[in-house]
Amino acid sequence: MGYSSWNDCGSMRNNGPTGWCWDTESHIHKVTEYFISSGLAKLGYVRINIDEGWLKGRDNVTGKMVEDFDKFPSGMKALGDWITQHDTFAGSGEKMHYGLYSCRGTKQCGSKTYGAVGSYGHEAADVDWMVAAGADYLKIDSCDATNYTHAGSFAQYAEYRDAMNATGKQVWFSLCGWHHWYSPPDPSIGYKGGASLGNSWRTGGDGQTWTDLTGNMNIQAAVASYNGPGGWSDPDLLTGPEVYIGGQSDEQARAQFTMWSLFPANLLISQNVLAWTPYALETYSNKELIAINQDKLASPAKRIVGGDLAFPCHPTTTTTTTTHHPAGGAGGGGGGGGKTAGVHAVPCNSTNVWGRQLSGGKFALGFVNNGGSAAHITCDGTCFGALNISSSVSALKVRDLWAHADVATLKRPFTFTAAVNGSGFAAAYTLTPLSL
Ligand code: GLA
Repeated sequence: MGYSSWNDCGSMRNNGPTGWCWDTESHIHKVTEYFISSGLAKLGYVRINIDEGWLKGRDNVTGKMVEDFDKFPSGMKALGDWITQHDTFAGSGEKMHYGLYSCRGTKQCGSKTYGAVGSYGHEAADVDWMVAAGADYLKIDSCDATNYTHAGSFAQYAEYRDAMNATGKQVWFSLCGWHHWYSPPDPSIGYKGGASLGNSWRTGGDGQTWTDLTGNMNIQAAVASYNGPGGWSDPDLLTGPEVYIGGQSDEQARAQFTMWSLFPANLLISQNVLAWTPYALETYSNKELIAINQDKLASPAKRIVGGDLAFPCHPTTTTTTTTHHPAGGAGGGGGGGGKTAGVHAVPCNSTNVWGRQLSGGKFALGFVNNGGSAAHITCDGTCFGALNISSSVSALKVRDLWAHADVATLKRPFTFTAAVNGSGFAAAYTLTPLSL
């Protein structure tokens, strides 16, 4: 949990003289201070990750990484030292954490906006450099990679994993390869699954809009079963209303946070928090959803009602959707990717129910509505059956995690209907067994 600079300041975003990232280093200082003063860090958002836009090139003689001193005048080690000397909150005794980014290709993704080198051929040295700068989270992207096959990608990423392990430090390895096939084992190439390679692995393209993120949720439905403690599929960053990238409405951003809490996925806020509305702070500060995200049973959510969602989705008419592709891809470059227009089938799927087990015998349900208007979405007997609730449970207390209120008591046969607004809205509930 924490912050990523990508949708905020990455690759020269908002970096013109009038943009808030013009002096990126001081913006990151202010962001860090905001995470602490707003209480976000106390809630668990303890990590400040710098994405693309800091690595400018290499020293001609030593080949070592050289940072962009225009954007980070004190350098990346000084920034790491500055971040990690801050307590997460007064008296916590715990420090903030720092993350850095590189790319397994020959160039970084934003080659048009930020033409800088990748780590290809410098894997172990670059890992050592970034860890020495204080990073305990390393995101390694895939633009301009020399190999995009399953086996080749895994082999290249394994070099980074081994280099991180060789540092003797605990480092969170965030793979960014934009493929669902990072999740499952593949015995034909001796691959043991995502968790054998890293701690999180991107399964889809960049989530810049609710349409993109809907696509990443669909992928999540297919790969969630491979998730568990230590290794998680990554449906991408928590995107806000940033217009530069397309962005989301405040309600869609809340829907994303709701579902990402349930999956559970990384909660990395990637937007200009200094411009937040009270609504946004309330969204990401929802303690009940954060508790689900961090639940110690760490059981992934399953989609139990509905199929792959579309957005926009008007089930009775043909609509045009756009599919976002990750920046780079096999061709590399792009720093934001391309979008392909397509017409989805009629009728499209507009609603889902997701469910999961929680510790303490509880359960969580999430409802999503991508349709054009409010809908009643039901978790019926079959849906409850998928939760594997013990037959000894005769009643369930239903708690609305946005109203922060107990809203119903269910008795067998269990069924529950949620009223959910449309156009990318989500509701979430916990179910607590009651002895009546
Ligand atoms: C790719 C990644 C993004 C971001 C950018 C940086 O698009 O998927 O998350 O790191 O590169 O250019």
